[in-house]
Amino acid sequence: MNKLLLIDDETDVQYSFQRIFDSPEVELTAASSGEEGLRLIPKIKPDLVIMDVRMGGITGLETLRRIRQIDSKLLVILMTAYGTTQTAIEAMKLGAYDYLLKPFDVPKLKEIVANALKAARDMKQVVSYEPLLESEDYELGIVGRSQPMQEVFKLIGQLAGSDATALLTGESGTGKELVARAIYHHSKRSGQPFLAVNCAAIPEQLLESELFGHERGSFTGATMQRIGKFEQCNRGTLFLDEIGDMTPATQTKVLRVLQSGTFERVGGNQPIQVDVRIIAATNKPLEQAVAARQFREDLFYRLNVVRVHIPPLRDRREDIPLLVNYFLQKFARDEKGPPKSIASGVLKLLEKYHWPGNVRELENVIRRALVMAKGDAILPADLPGELTGQGAASGAATSALGAPGSDAVSDVTALARHLFQWARRDPKLKIIPAVERELVIQALKEADGNQVHAAKLLGITRATLRKRVEKFGIQRELKIQ
Ligand SMILES: Nc1ncnc2c1ncn2[C@@H]1O[C@H](COP(=O)(O)OP(=O)(O)OP(=O)(O)O)[C@@H](O)[C@H]1O
Ligand SMILES: [Mg+2]
Repeated sequence: MNKLLLIDDETDVQYSFQRIFDSPEVELTAASSGEEGLRLIPKIKPDLVIMDVRMGGITGLETLRRIRQIDSKLLVILMTAYGTTQTAIEAMKLGAYDYLLKPFDVPKLKEIVANALKAARDMKQVVSYEPLLESEDYELGIVGRSQPMQEVFKLIGQLAGSDATALLTGESGTGKELVARAIYHHSKRSGQPFLAVNCAAIPEQLLESELFGHERGSFTGATMQRIGKFEQCNRGTLFLDEIGDMTPATQTKVLRVLQSGTFERVGGNQPIQVDVRIIAATNKPLEQAVAARQFREDLFYRLNVVRVHIPPLRDRREDIPLLVNYFLQKFARDEKGPPKSIASGVLKLLEKYHWPGNVRELENVIRRALVMAKGDAILPADLPGELTGQGAASGAATSALGAPGSDAVSDVTALARHLFQWARRDPKLKIIPAVERELVIQALKEADGNQVHAAKLLGITRATLRKRVEKFGIQRELKIQ
C-alpha cells in the first residue's frame, strides 16, 4: 500500500487526484493547507507528499522547510502553475524530489509518482547483510554464506562506516543495487536521501541534465531551469548505476564533483557546491574501457577507491539452496500463504545450472515455478527448458515451441515467456520493437520480398507493413515488385 498525501487548497485538484489514484494500491489523503498537511504527516506517515506551491496560509516553501525538519527523507513533489517555476526551483533547492507543472499531464504525473514511490521504498527498506536465514524474520536482505559473499559483507560494513566512494562490479543480476542500498542503510547518511540514476537507461543528451540540471534555454527543449540529481541529493547518497555508459563530457563533470564537490548546471556558469556520497556500479569491465580510452582513467581511479566485486552465482553455488529458500519464503509472504516446498531433484538442477542472469534469474525461475506448480511442491517439470536440459541450451525461442501443428496458442504463450526471460537478462531489450522488426524481416524473406504475401503472413495490411519497413529501416529486404 502506497500512502500519498496531497496538499492543495483547490477542491478540483483534490477531486482529480482521487480519480487518477483510485486504485487498491494507493491510499490518498488530502489536506487543504500546509498547516493541515503538517498535522497529518506524523499521523498517516505518508510515503510521498504532493503539494501545491501557492496556497492560502503558509506557503508551499515554508511547508517544505518544516517537512524537512520533521523528516529529512520524506519525498515531496511540488506542483506549480506556469510562470511560477522559479518558486519550484527554490523548493527543489530545499530538497523537493521533483516538480510538476499545472495543468498536469496525467501520464507524466503517474510516472513521476511511480518513480518517487520507488525511490521512497529504496530509502525505507533496510537491506541487511547479516546472515539472516537463522531467524524467522525474513527481512529484505542479501543472502549468502559462501566465502566470496562473506568478503562482500565485510566490505559493506567497512564502507558503511566511511564516506568513501565505492565501485561495485559484477555481472548483471548479481546484486549490485542491493549492495549499494545496504551500504547506504548502514552509513551515517541513512537519514538523508538515496537516489539512483541508471546511466544506461537515459539518452546521453539527457543524462548530463538529469545529473547536473540545466539552465533555461541551454538547449532546445530546455524551456525552464531544472535541478539535477546531484543537487537534489545534497548530503545524501547517489547511486550511479551502469557508470560505464557515460559520455566523456559527463565523465569529466562527475570527476570534478568527486574532486572538488562542485559543478555547474548545463548552460550555467555558477559553480554549485554539494556534498554527495557516490556509489557507482557497472557490469562492464571498466579497466578495458579505460584501456580503450572510452572511460577516463582519472575518473576510474577516483571511483575505484573501494572496489566491491560481487561474484557470479555460478562461482558460489553453495548459496543456491539458501537463496531458493529465501525466495520461497519471500514469495509466500507476499502471497500470504504457506511456502511451497521443492523436490530434491529440482534443487540439484538449480545447483547445476550456470545462471547467466545470476540471482535475478534464479529469483525469476522460482517465481515462475511457483506459478506453474500444481501441487504443494515445485517439480522439475515446473522449471524452464534451459534448466531441465530440454530445449536448446542457449534458450533459443524455438525451444519453447512444440512441433508444428501443436496448440498454436500455448506455443505463443511459451514464446512470450521466453522473450521475457531474455528481457530480464538484458534490460536494454525492448521486446515489442525487437520482435516486430524480426517478424517483418522473416515474413519478407518467407514471401521472397513480396509485400502482399508478407503482409498476409503477418496478418496486417500492406500499408502497415510499409510503415514498419520504413520505421525499422529494412528496405533492403524488399524486392521491388
Ligand atoms: N544475495 C542476494 N540475496 C537476495 N536477493 C538477491 C541477492 N542478490 C540479488 N538479489 C535479488 O536479485 C535481483 C537483482 O539484483 P540487483 O538488481 O541488485 O542486481 P544488479 O547487479 O544491480 O543487476 P544489473 O546489473 O542487471 O542491474 C533483485 O531482485 C535482488 O533483490
Ligand atoms: Mg542494477
